[in-house]
Amino acid sequence: MAPLDQNMADVLERTAPLYERVRRMIPPIEWPGFAEDIDAILTLKRERRAVILAHNYQTPEIFNCVADVVGDSLTLARKAMEVEAEVIVLAGVHFMAETAKLLNPSRTVLIPDLRAGCSLAESITAADVRLMRARYPGVPVVTYVNTSAAVKAESDICCTSGNARKVVESLGVPRVIMLPDEYLAQNVQRETGVEIIAWAGHCEVHERFTPEDVRTLRAENPGVVVLAHPECPPAVVAEADFAGSTAAMSDYVTAQRPARVVLLTECSMSDNVALQNPATSFVRPCNLCPHMKRITLGNIRTALAEMRHEVVIDPAVAGPARRAVERMLEVR
Ligand code: 13P
Ligand code: SF4
Repeated sequence: MAPLDQNMADVLERTAPLYERVRRMIPPIEWPGFAEDIDAILTLKRERRAVILAHNYQTPEIFNCVADVVGDSLTLARKAMEVEAEVIVLAGVHFMAETAKLLNPSRTVLIPDLRAGCSLAESITAADVRLMRARYPGVPVVTYVNTSAAVKAESDICCTSGNARKVVESLGVPRVIMLPDEYLAQNVQRETGVEIIAWAGHCEVHERFTPEDVRTLRAENPGVVVLAHPECPPAVVAEADFAGSTAAMSDYVTAQRPARVVLLTECSMSDNVALQNPATSFVRPCNLCPHMKRITLGNIRTALAEMRHEVVIDPAVAGPARRAVERMLEVR
């Protein structure tokens, strides 16, 4: 065998157990293209003393084959705080990498592509938050983690979709400002009865779902269980059987074992939950998050090889932003 062929044969042998995790999603002919990067990433992780935190929206080969920790944004934040390794690679979007850096500032945090943003984070600036405060004096500001560190720094407390209700209730006030996701704010207002002053930010993935989509899905797939992310418009959440964070949706499928399910959220999430729940059949309307999809095995490998792109937060912003995130983590 030529040396190159022998190398590839060795890579395929080493990665064979990992292929078993994703064989239902990745055809055998495509696997060698992934296997080489996966093998290199596993070696680089050991050399760099690095861990990879991956969001539930990452593609199956990242989520299942190279990640050390997977979860929703709340889980990734909690786990980032506990990381003892020297380097954290965040396979997700920029605000998640910033949150990891805020919570574990002595670690080097890398984001494989700086363009991995978020339409919600883009929708608001720190100056906007100051204007909201000036307009509603004394009303506490709850900021979704899907924001920049500068916006978090202007906030009293952060929340994720996994704890928004508890965070709002923990404040014990009749009125809060909740930024920047208008639909999450409206969904939380309905759940808590607390009056919520919202901002007109939207997730470009979830705002596309409509109540008509839900009705069509039900008509075409009798008995299908509909799960929605709370970034969806309230009229969509109202028609769903359950709404929750990405982790809550995944847990719902594992616990309830529906015969047929549709997840009204980002596309790759269904792939990952389907791999863990082979008895459930998934209906798949596919809305991709272009920002999440910026992260690939190739740029994770480069991130580790070249130690880029390091997340750095202005110290003037980091202190108050950290306090808002830590205050959120104290809410149980
Ligand atoms: P989760 O916190 O539910 O994982 O959501 C993050 C996100 O970006 C959803 O679009
Ligand atoms: Fe942002 Fe929406 Fe993408 Fe989540 S799915 S990262 S909220 S744009």
